[in-house]
Amino acid sequence: MPKASDGHQEALLQHLAVIMDGNGRWAQKRGLARTAGHRYGAEKLYDLCVMCIKRGIKYVTVFAFSTENWQRPEAEVSQIMDLFIYFFNKYKDEMKKEGIRLRFSGVKDELPDRVKDTITEAESTSETRKTLQLILAFNYGGRREIVESSKKIIAAVQRGELDPDDLDEEKFRDYLYLPDVPDPDLIIRPSGEQRLSNFLLWQGAYSELYFAKVLWPDFTENTLDKALNEFAKRDRRFGAIEKE
Ligand code: IPE
Ligand code: IPE
Ligand code: MG
Repeated sequence: MPKASDGHQEALLQHLAVIMDGNGRWAQKRGLARTAGHRYGAEKLYDLCVMCIKRGIKYVTVFAFSTENWQRPEAEVSQIMDLFIYFFNKYKDEMKKEGIRLRFSGVKDELPDRVKDTITEAESTSETRKTLQLILAFNYGGRREIVESSKKIIAAVQRGELDPDDLDEEKFRDYLYLPDVPDPDLIIRPSGEQRLSNFLLWQGAYSELYFAKVLWPDFTENTLDKALNEFAKRDRRFGAIEKE
């Protein structure tokens, strides 16, 4: 496993987002239960944090469980919930040492109490850490986030705290789950699928997208560097024309 202390590189981007997909296929290929794939995927998440720190990346958002993933068999869902807790317990000390702040993005209310308690503890104990923000999109859905933001806006208008005429894109952002987090520069999706599956719909409006065939548990530093090299070559125009 790479160590963050191997030396920091100059940051190519500020915020990386990753759809951690392909755990099930990874396990199936080995004749293992899907949960084994989720377990390896969780270990890989810590590796990813270290890779990001080495490269000077300040935010990494990972898609770990979508609002649609509740449709999976109850046993698999329950094992994913347990893995969430396992991950925090296993890497608690390392994350402290590396200066990793943990944040959660998604619908907390619907999660089991044991998961909610883990989130509260992980967030509150890591709040002042500065090296990397690890944002776990867990029970996250992009459409759901936009609907919830809209409801918060309506409530603010009804309370007389917000004038609808003042609502613009910048103001709307204030009502998203994590308004202070900059938009992701790059979204990587391993596993061969080429879709967003309801991930960061608002924030990803101008993100560069990179799709890799590798399954998430097999993701390596080499995969990340290939994506970053490709990102470095992209011309981010944001709707404008190329600069002279
Ligand atoms: C991603 O891996 C993890 C979650 C969605 C929770 P999958 O479980 O979707 O793996 P595949 O896509 O079936 O291989
Ligand atoms: C997206 O993967 C969600 C996560 C990786 C957590 P899925 O496996 O749920 O997405 P689909 O079903 O292939 O679109
Ligand atoms: Mg999948």
